[in-house]
Amino acid sequence: MAKLTILRYPDPRLYTRAKPVVTVNAHIRQLIADMAETMYAAPGIGLAATQVDEHIQLLIVDTSETQNDLHVLINPELLVTEGSAEHEEGCLSVPGIYDKVTRAERVTVRALDADGEPFELVAEGLLAVCIQHEMDHLLGKVFVQYLSPLKQSRIKNKLKKRVQETM
Ligand code: NI
Repeated sequence: MAKLTILRYPDPRLYTRAKPVVTVNAHIRQLIADMAETMYAAPGIGLAATQVDEHIQLLIVDTSETQNDLHVLINPELLVTEGSAEHEEGCLSVPGIYDKVTRAERVTVRALDADGEPFELVAEGLLAVCIQHEMDHLLGKVFVQYLSPLKQSRIKNKLKKRVQETM
């Protein structure tokens, strides 16, 4: 396994729309293993392939405290969304920034698992937030794009400044 580099907002590659996975093969399974290692090490509770510069419809989430409940979603589709709720979100591509986003409270999603088998998942609470956040990444969308233009430009400046300071 190998840890992968996570793209940082506002890297333009984060705005790429991911393509569907055609075959769940050994290459995809290796990517899943590497993404899981990267997410757990960060530590984070979700990671989309987009964030590691692989523009395919693959995401992983694990909202358990014990890091032992990994969900792998390949070619995920939202079937049903219900209600709405506001939660504070963060993102491994936007380190140190947290803000409130309103999303569906409960979602039903269909996807393929790591063996290429279709399944449906009903999620609510943090898991629902996380799945919707990661599905946005596959559409080339970062959560800060839900915030006001003023907040977005402040966040961009903050992160650019931080990059310059570490160079
Ligand atoms: Ni994210």
